[in-house]
Amino acid sequence: MKILLISNSARGEAIAEALLRSQPTPELFVASTVRSLGLMRMAKEVQVMDIDSLAKVVQMAKGIKPDFAFIAPDDPIGAGLADRLECVGVPCVAPKKTLARIEASKGFARNLMKKYGIEGNPRFRVFSFSSMDAKRQLDLDMRHYMEYELKGQYVVKYDALKGGKGVKLSGEHLSTIDSSAQYAMECIDQCGTVVIEEKLIGVEFSLLSFVSGTATVDMPAVQDHKRAHDDDIGANTGGMGTYSDSNHSLPFLTEEDLKAASAFNCRIAAALLEECGEPYKGILYGGFIATKDGVKVIEYNARFGDPEALNVLPLLETDFVSVCQAILKGTLTPDLVRFAAKATVCKYITPKSYPEDKKEKGQTVLVPEKIPENVRVFYGDVSMLDTGTLQLGGSRSIGVVGIGDTLHDAEQAAQAFCEKITGPVRFRSDIGTVESIQKRVDLMQKLRRP
Ligand SMILES: Nc1ncnc2c1ncn2[C@@H]1O[C@H](COP(=O)(O)OP(=O)(O)O)[C@@H](O)[C@H]1O
Ligand SMILES: [Mg+2]
Repeated sequence: MKILLISNSARGEAIAEALLRSQPTPELFVASTVRSLGLMRMAKEVQVMDIDSLAKVVQMAKGIKPDFAFIAPDDPIGAGLADRLECVGVPCVAPKKTLARIEASKGFARNLMKKYGIEGNPRFRVFSFSSMDAKRQLDLDMRHYMEYELKGQYVVKYDALKGGKGVKLSGEHLSTIDSSAQYAMECIDQCGTVVIEEKLIGVEFSLLSFVSGTATVDMPAVQDHKRAHDDDIGANTGGMGTYSDSNHSLPFLTEEDLKAASAFNCRIAAALLEECGEPYKGILYGGFIATKDGVKVIEYNARFGDPEALNVLPLLETDFVSVCQAILKGTLTPDLVRFAAKATVCKYITPKSYPEDKKEKGQTVLVPEKIPENVRVFYGDVSMLDTGTLQLGGSRSIGVVGIGDTLHDAEQAAQAFCEKITGPVRFRSDIGTVESIQKRVDLMQKLRRP
């Protein structure tokens, strides 16, 4: 069995590791943006390339003739790599371009939910213009919507992939109606439309599902930490760390919340089949927020999250290649998927100046050789030189995952290993701590109080 993995980060390494635990052991070929230590150790071949150049990936696939491909990141999925690979006879665990609009267009996702009666949207409108004359009117309409209809509590969303940097919130990134209207117009200038929606209040979480057509099988729920610094302060990042609990729910969620999130993923898969006329095959990532009025949808992604994949994949006890094959064949059933009843905490080691700057790019990071049994280490934007030296890139460097019977054990394991990594790097000490989790539980309790 030959598998082609397309990877740009530590998430790819978590996928590779899970695939290689399958029996019989597959041969893994990787198209990767970085010369990753983990991938070099695990794969039969790693080709370092620009994975957004679809033609190059297709060329590599033609040479290898893999049984299937697994596309990890959003950009090549959104650009239609699955369509291109399937044209040369390589089935993909990743949705085709029309289906991937669930992530690539936030307007498409909101409208799909509305059209198929899937509740969970905040109040929203998708704005666009057809002629230059309409621009002034459009500006007035958007201002009116933000100021009066949404009462100054709004979110402006770029309507295309933007690497997690296209969403701006009133009161946080947008302090005046002028700057908000200006940003909304910039979005329209760049991609034709903009989504403006109600700003929800609550606690966010992710629920990812394996999907094959209308069959969905959930993974453990995960909570991410987007802000750069402890106590959720600072700029938004790709995600500084995540945790998942041994019961596969989260301490601040009710059973109903988790069921609601699961039902959303299921209904989205069915709506996509109906709307696009072909089955979604891959990973569906629901980004949710638990509010006083129940669970609402923040966004959908068409792939594993990074770091979410680092939490859940090490817990997968069943054969990942069999899961992928079932996704491709349309035979996905819950009995194929079982996760260990363990808690995980992932803390991302990043360059010190991340995300604002890339001052540490090219500098060395030292990681202890000996990794404890309850820790997993996944390399992101770190290149291995021929000398074996690990060189930092500008983005998130190393995902350190602690695994334990309780969140506390998992947190301690991740924290202890992170403290041993040296170089011009940092990480968030608060992720997964008892205090940090209690804050989220308290906030949810306060919101739910009548
Ligand atoms: N309607 C909303 N209400 C409150 N916060 C939101 C809303 N939409 C997005 N956000 C915040 O902005 C972040 C990024 O938005 P999201 O839709 O997930 O886009 P992306 O991940 O592509 O940047 C979310 O994690 C959340 O914190
Ligand atoms: Mg998001």
